[in-house]
Amino acid sequence: MKRYTVTAALPYTNGPIHIGHLSGVYIPADIYTRYLRLSGKDVVFICGSDEHGVAISIKASNEKTTPKNIIDKYDKMIRQSFESFGISFDNYSRTSREIHYDTASEFFKKLNSNKKFVEMTTNQLFDETANKFLADRFVTGTCPVCSFKDAYGDQCEKCGSSLNATDLINPKSTLSGIKPILKKTKHWFLPLDKYEKFIKNWILDKHKDDWKANVYGQVKSWIEIGLKPRAVTRDLDWGIPVPIKESEGKVLYVWFDAPIGYISSTKEWAAKNKKDWEVYWKDEETELVHFIGKDNIVFHCIIFPSMLQAHGEFVLPKNVPANEFLNLEGEKISTSKNWAVWIHEYLQDFPNKEDVLRYVLTSNMPETKDSDFTWRDFQAKNNNELVAIYGNFVNRVIVLINKYYLGEIPTPSFYTNEDKEILSSVKVIKDNISSAIEKFRFRESNSEMMNIARIGNKYLADSEPWKQIKDNPDRTKTILFISIQIVSALAYLSEPFLPFTSLKLKGILGVEKQLGWKEILNFNIIESGHKINKSSLLFEKIEDNEIINQYKKMNINKK
Ligand code: MF3
Ligand code: ZN
Repeated sequence: MKRYTVTAALPYTNGPIHIGHLSGVYIPADIYTRYLRLSGKDVVFICGSDEHGVAISIKASNEKTTPKNIIDKYDKMIRQSFESFGISFDNYSRTSREIHYDTASEFFKKLNSNKKFVEMTTNQLFDETANKFLADRFVTGTCPVCSFKDAYGDQCEKCGSSLNATDLINPKSTLSGIKPILKKTKHWFLPLDKYEKFIKNWILDKHKDDWKANVYGQVKSWIEIGLKPRAVTRDLDWGIPVPIKESEGKVLYVWFDAPIGYISSTKEWAAKNKKDWEVYWKDEETELVHFIGKDNIVFHCIIFPSMLQAHGEFVLPKNVPANEFLNLEGEKISTSKNWAVWIHEYLQDFPNKEDVLRYVLTSNMPETKDSDFTWRDFQAKNNNELVAIYGNFVNRVIVLINKYYLGEIPTPSFYTNEDKEILSSVKVIKDNISSAIEKFRFRESNSEMMNIARIGNKYLADSEPWKQIKDNPDRTKTILFISIQIVSALAYLSEPFLPFTSLKLKGILGVEKQLGWKEILNFNIIESGHKINKSSLLFEKIEDNEIINQYKKMNINKK
């Protein structure tokens, strides 16, 4: 592949982000992208704020302010959270920007003039008290598929079905609480039924083996149920105006405009960096990868690809490695119940511990099924793994080299079989990390990374340089030379997972050079005679009281 376009779901700017967002979408996307960059690939990592949609209007009216105020506030917060966590987007745009209005409008116009839509006047739900049409999150009711009572007009959060508001049984307006009436209105529909075959041929027939089972399974069940035409316009006052005549008061459906946001964000990046955006979206040798959560699968595997197919000029995603959901202390994360660990609060409560959360979330990522975050586990993984394994190994090696050789890397002599085996097993681990990342198995790649430190610790414990130093100075030099090679391999190989720690460790080692993934371990990363710096702690223990404070905050009593 010549290049990669990696996208991460555009977050809605109707609230801050929490650990579920990071673990489901942004951390895996960031590990993947950092790895690709280190491997020398041409990659662009795209994201931005999703600023339309009913959730934002509802939030604005609840808080008696304007949608603009809401999106500005949360765009800023979300941006800062991503930046603090080292999520290395090449571009983070906003769907409220002009470039996006233009791109989405052009897209719609092209589909319209190529007769890809069906215009239909149909009965839609209408709230007579609020004098508004109701769609999406403006209406709740019973899911016709699974009978869940609080399904939304566009989607059931229980079973994941994608719905039309008129499918709901016993619909209720979220504006006034009343039962809506039916009223005629004209809309533009994308006839998804006509794309069933295309989706089947493309995903079901070709991607059974290389797409994740959870993603493949969802697509399969939608195709089995059968696809229906879906309205891509709405009667709303917040959104991108439908860019054709006789459409006053109508806007583009948020799920029509938002994924086009990936394209407009790429255009924005290209303009800033003197690149050609089109090859990142239209060249056959571009690999497009969408990182999303499971509630977004239908939009990224069926609706957006059908839009791209209808348009005709774009490549289709190569993979959509969606994750399942992360729970918190055994319960579903819920914004409305404030059951979440908010990223901006974590940053305040645990300053300089971004990598700790990255590590814990990766080691527990909901890759194949829902998983659970608990503060106790967070503490244990920090104390027993980051501090006791990674930090401890690095610290011992750095301290000993400073102590015995005043920080100067010694010259090794004879390598024993154990020495050779250690070095080759680290190389094997490096390859395991690569292949796990390439298969979107981030938990596995992260634990392989930690295995390097485990091996290093065991090597020190077995070879006991502190006992050898008196009678066997040459052997000691070899042991510490090998140990420091492992430390430096760790410094480079942990970059995708622990970018801040990697940087700090490179600082301690005094190695500033950028190494490509391929080069790591191909030769000695640090040569004899090179001077390293003094040790400083990479991780610190998290005490019980800090965990108890978090439990208090959540009204959980735990000792
Ligand atoms: N805002 C959506 C969500 O949080 C994701 C939008 S992804 C995009 O669920 F493709 F539409 F951009
Ligand atoms: Zn349902």
